[in-house]
Amino acid sequence: MDKQMDRRTFISYLGTGAAALAVASAGLGTLEGKASAASKTADHLFGYGTNRVSGHFDPIEPSKADMLLLPQGYRYDVVAAYGDIINEKGEAFGQGCDYNAFLPINGSSTRGLLATNHEYTNIFLTGPIKDGTMTQKQVNDSLAYQGMSVIEVYRDKDGVWKLDKSSKYARRINGFTKFELTGPAKGSAAVGGKTTVQGTFANCSGGVTLWNTVLSCEENFSELAEAAGLPLTHYGWVVEIDPFDGAYLRKHTALGRFNHENTAMGLASDGRIVVYMGDDKKDACIYKFVSKGKYDPSRGRANSLLLEDGTLYVANLKSGSWIAMTIDALKKVLDNKSFKAPSGVKSTREELLKLFQTQADVVTNCHEAALILGGTPTDRPEDIEISPFDNTVFICHTNNDSHGNIHGHITRIFEKDNNLSEISFDFEIFAAGGRQSGFSSPDNLTFDGNGNLWVVTDISSSSMNKGVYTSFMNNGLFVIPTSGPSKAQALQFASGPVECELTGPFFTPDEMTLFLSIQHPGENTTDLSKPTSLWPHRPGDKIPREAVVAISGFKLG
Ligand code: FEO
Ligand code: CA
Ligand code: CA
Ligand code: CA
Repeated sequence: MDKQMDRRTFISYLGTGAAALAVASAGLGTLEGKASAASKTADHLFGYGTNRVSGHFDPIEPSKADMLLLPQGYRYDVVAAYGDIINEKGEAFGQGCDYNAFLPINGSSTRGLLATNHEYTNIFLTGPIKDGTMTQKQVNDSLAYQGMSVIEVYRDKDGVWKLDKSSKYARRINGFTKFELTGPAKGSAAVGGKTTVQGTFANCSGGVTLWNTVLSCEENFSELAEAAGLPLTHYGWVVEIDPFDGAYLRKHTALGRFNHENTAMGLASDGRIVVYMGDDKKDACIYKFVSKGKYDPSRGRANSLLLEDGTLYVANLKSGSWIAMTIDALKKVLDNKSFKAPSGVKSTREELLKLFQTQADVVTNCHEAALILGGTPTDRPEDIEISPFDNTVFICHTNNDSHGNIHGHITRIFEKDNNLSEISFDFEIFAAGGRQSGFSSPDNLTFDGNGNLWVVTDISSSSMNKGVYTSFMNNGLFVIPTSGPSKAQALQFASGPVECELTGPFFTPDEMTLFLSIQHPGENTTDLSKPTSLWPHRPGDKIPREAVVAISGFKLG
């Protein structure tokens, strides 16, 4: 317990000054008994010995209702919904809201900027898509309504969270916004020689950097890129924006190109930056990027240069090692005339030798490179979080029916010597989905100040409330302690409306508010006159509206 960071340090993890946290956690030293640093506070939470923790609640039951249900004593405000006007220019909040990052203004937990990802567009924007082919208008609308929003939000004197349309920061970033490329692929043949590219879309989850910018991850980009006639290699990257500076727009190619779910940034013992990332596909890999240079808090946003030069690693779970993804290593494997492509790589040796010529080709074709180098295919790695308490790394493996992994699991990586830049590690299955645990298909993660993981689930709408998924009902939000007697036990905190996925949980620094996105309610609708959900049930609305809500009711002693 004495090694646990204090509450003030934890608060840094949630927003401004994340640097302080990373420094603190990097100095924690070797894990004792495999990480139980947070057990005392977690005991408090689940022993109900105190109510000073953010997670004090009576768990709810699964539900099929077209409502966002919360435990008694908690409430929510819809802060911004699809189509809401967000600024004086008249720009509208996008569709498919996912990741949220709250960045305080002047250190406030009641006024700040919310950077929100917009991952998908659907029938409620485009209308039905005939024969699976989008019209030009449907393509343009999708490009416009995906991407990101930056909005200014505040809690008014009555305790209600609202969006401030008069904000000078509020803006949309979308499929038309120009981005600068950085890193090995910038200007390379792999991206058609380009140094700038058009737009970002399919933005799934993300992360906040130590210098308070936001990283946003391009996940399932290929469908819209193809429909729009945009080069595929311009998408599938990690994007960096500065919510406080509209001109700052980067895509960091050193972090690789794949179906990026999220980023989790921490510091190695020697001060280098480490970024963990999942490739959300069946049988895809876990990656980490380690910067060449060291983090210097006094340099502020200039530390972003660290994301341009470093080593990308892929995890081999069998040997417990991180494999450096360099062109030299790859060429060495491919130079062997008896090379046989691993399962998952369809190209021949000759084709691969042609494809992989420079480091730009490695980062641009990460999945193939990773498998060839011995990266372990896993069961849809989604969100990753580094525990701010003990530097262990939690990874949601959502599910993978091709391996019979129906309900997914949460993997926990223990880096050697608790040092994030080490190249060997151990791991455990921290929690397994299923009836015994009460949750299925874990996706996004965030920590609270008591070392509990807040986990949202992503049972697909086509499977929800059917077959082996019946007992879980609608997707939910669960609280799972990472240590103590209730370690790995899930308690349900929220149940989402019909056919939705809950995404983007993010606490304010004071932990009195939890932002959460309600993504794709009613997404199975095929006839606009008969929507399967009408959440959030605004008067006069004839369609459901994806929205970010602010949940209140947390009690801190
Ligand atoms: Fe966009 Fe992997 O969820
Ligand atoms: Ca996700
Ligand atoms: Ca997260
Ligand atoms: Ca998902």
